[in-house]
Amino acid sequence: MEKVNDRPALEYSPALPRLGAFDRAKAIGKSTAKRGIDVYFATKCAFLRTFGIIDFPVPPNHCLRRTSSHTLRHYYESGVTTMMPIVTAARIFGVDLDQPVNVLDFGCGVARQFLQLNRQYPRVKAHACDAHPDNVAYVKRTFPNADVYANNFDPPLKYADDTFDLVYSVSTFSHFSLDDAKLWLRELSRVTKPGGLLCLTFNSYTSIAWTHDRGGIRNYSAEQLTQDGHWYYVDEASWYRRKAEEAVSEFGSNTTGATRPTGDMFFLRSTRKFL
Ligand SMILES: C[S@@+](CC[C@H](N)C(=O)[O-])C[C@H]1O[C@@H](n2cnc3c(N)ncnc32)[C@H](O)[C@@H]1O
Repeated sequence: MEKVNDRPALEYSPALPRLGAFDRAKAIGKSTAKRGIDVYFATKCAFLRTFGIIDFPVPPNHCLRRTSSHTLRHYYESGVTTMMPIVTAARIFGVDLDQPVNVLDFGCGVARQFLQLNRQYPRVKAHACDAHPDNVAYVKRTFPNADVYANNFDPPLKYADDTFDLVYSVSTFSHFSLDDAKLWLRELSRVTKPGGLLCLTFNSYTSIAWTHDRGGIRNYSAEQLTQDGHWYYVDEASWYRRKAEEAVSEFGSNTTGATRPTGDMFFLRSTRKFL
């Protein structure tokens, strides 16, 4: 079996920290407040859809907030802008999305890109998967004609070798450790047809500048990335604490499906020698 941090990939799950009574109460309070906000959001969206102000399906708020979108506008617009380079690459590399070609969205979240794919290219045979069952439940009921399923955090996927003309994945490899990125790159290559197209997004120099601007991770620079080639930042203690909180609060979990921590992975623009 593939080793991760010198342990077999599927067995890496340390015990969760114990929460005291105060921390448990805080986690439950926070989760209840979030549920209130989500009910408000659902009511607002139903109103906007009834009056035709928005004309696209809207994911539940608790799913939206853990997959990069904090507003509806951002969900829709960033879906368009992140899909655009993918369809451009498809055109350049000869994948005709006006034909019934097989396309996979790996780590589809709540269909930020998949919505655009299905709307703009209705002839495509659309497939999507994600490790989080709540995301998958939403995508499945919203796109009943697509093939959607919840995959395990570790390969393999359910698909046969050489299935897809195009596989894309936005904002997943930028959160995998180097070991996980290697595992998944190999698996996505397996399911992509020879001559097919694999389109992945990664964090690189721009993301480092962006993180610095937002006051995030400051102890790493673009110059260091040039020297080191890749850099993975993960706060494991916070990750397992969040898992412990989610175990008592149950609602709005964003680590479900993940058996190892994810963080922020940065790569040199050319990743060939590392992956
Ligand atoms: C930042 S979100 C991006 C979602 C979507 N691609 C987008 O851009 O809106 C990362 C997604 O990857 C999913 N994910 C993380 N690890 C995964 C794995 N091993 N297999 C499949 N999906 C995974 C998460 O559940 C989450 O939905």
